[in-house]
Amino acid sequence: MIYKIRFVNPGKNYQMIKDELDAVYFEVMSNGDLIDRGHLKRFEENLAAFVGTKYAVGLNSGYDALHLSLRAAGIGPGDEVIVPSHTFVASASAIINAGAKPVLVDVGADFNIDCGKVEQFLELETRNSRLKVKAIMPVHLNGYIADMAGVMQIARRYNLVVVEDACQSLGAKMDGKKAGSWGLTGCWSFYPFKILGGYGDGGAITTDDPKVALYATRMRYNGEDRNTGDYHGHGFTCLLDNLQAAFLDVKLRHLPKWIERRREIAQQYREGLLDLADLILPHYGDPRRDHVYQNYVVRSKQGDFFSDYLQSNGVEVLIQFRKPYYKHEALKVENRGFPETEALSREVCSLPMNVEITNEEVGYVISVIRSFYGK
Ligand SMILES: Cc1ncc(COP(=O)(O)O)c(C=O)c1O
Repeated sequence: MIYKIRFVNPGKNYQMIKDELDAVYFEVMSNGDLIDRGHLKRFEENLAAFVGTKYAVGLNSGYDALHLSLRAAGIGPGDEVIVPSHTFVASASAIINAGAKPVLVDVGADFNIDCGKVEQFLELETRNSRLKVKAIMPVHLNGYIADMAGVMQIARRYNLVVVEDACQSLGAKMDGKKAGSWGLTGCWSFYPFKILGGYGDGGAITTDDPKVALYATRMRYNGEDRNTGDYHGHGFTCLLDNLQAAFLDVKLRHLPKWIERRREIAQQYREGLLDLADLILPHYGDPRRDHVYQNYVVRSKQGDFFSDYLQSNGVEVLIQFRKPYYKHEALKVENRGFPETEALSREVCSLPMNVEITNEEVGYVISVIRSFYGK
């Protein structure tokens, strides 16, 4: 289907910064700087500075960042890790593939982990003398930071490692402190359609802990210390390519103004849709937290009728997710009952949100939605 309004438009985004991207491409290619070179190092320094941590380690994906973070923290067989019931499956897969068990906890109206329900679960497990939870993985979904002040308080009380799945929220803050700088690690994805997207897979860990940074730096390279040639364990092949790092570094410079643009678009959606009673918009009004709008996810009581109507009127939308991951039998994760996740899964619809879109195009999306509701 040819859409009138694309969900994202990477070709147009390339045209916006073509000269800068082409310049680093020719630089990297003509120097043959492909693996573990200066562009990677510079990108890591700039990413760490942006997030507000001492270190950043470039990896092949957000999944690798989560997986290596858990291993770095010594999480493994016999351990449980709390993770939201509404997230991308990679959050839970990283826990399983580290040998631990994901324990799902429901989210709140902001799509992020509900600290009250986390506490309830931990209290119950403690009372029954069966507490095996060693870590918590809050996910900052859609560009909105989870209640990290609350998560950190719980983590201190129960002595839990905090691994932030920040893959969707580069630049989001709570109390002025950025996502990815609260826990032991912040985990990033540079999948092409992320707020900072590469031209293939990419990811990173941010951390203040030198041991974790060193562990990830070795394990991304099959356990090898590149300076000495010694192996420090059986690792993985998951280094961020120097060429991707060079592209990401260019885009990172544009990120602050791109986040502002996303906020402008969100405001335009808000003004155009606020009066529609069957639609819940992602504006949560918490003065301590801000939103970078990786995704502009509305909830429509009309579910698929709503999203199908948008698609058939030329507006490309994304549905994440109609079927929660715990309902996929092959994944074998425990479904303890998650009413908020169930409710929002029936209703979610991500509207086009990207820095390529024009105000007129956003206006068209608004007009299609209003016509669906007979306005
Ligand atoms: C919330 C969340 N966690 C983890 C990931 C995994 O990142 P990647 O696709 O780079 O492995 C993603 C991105 O797709 C994500 O959105």
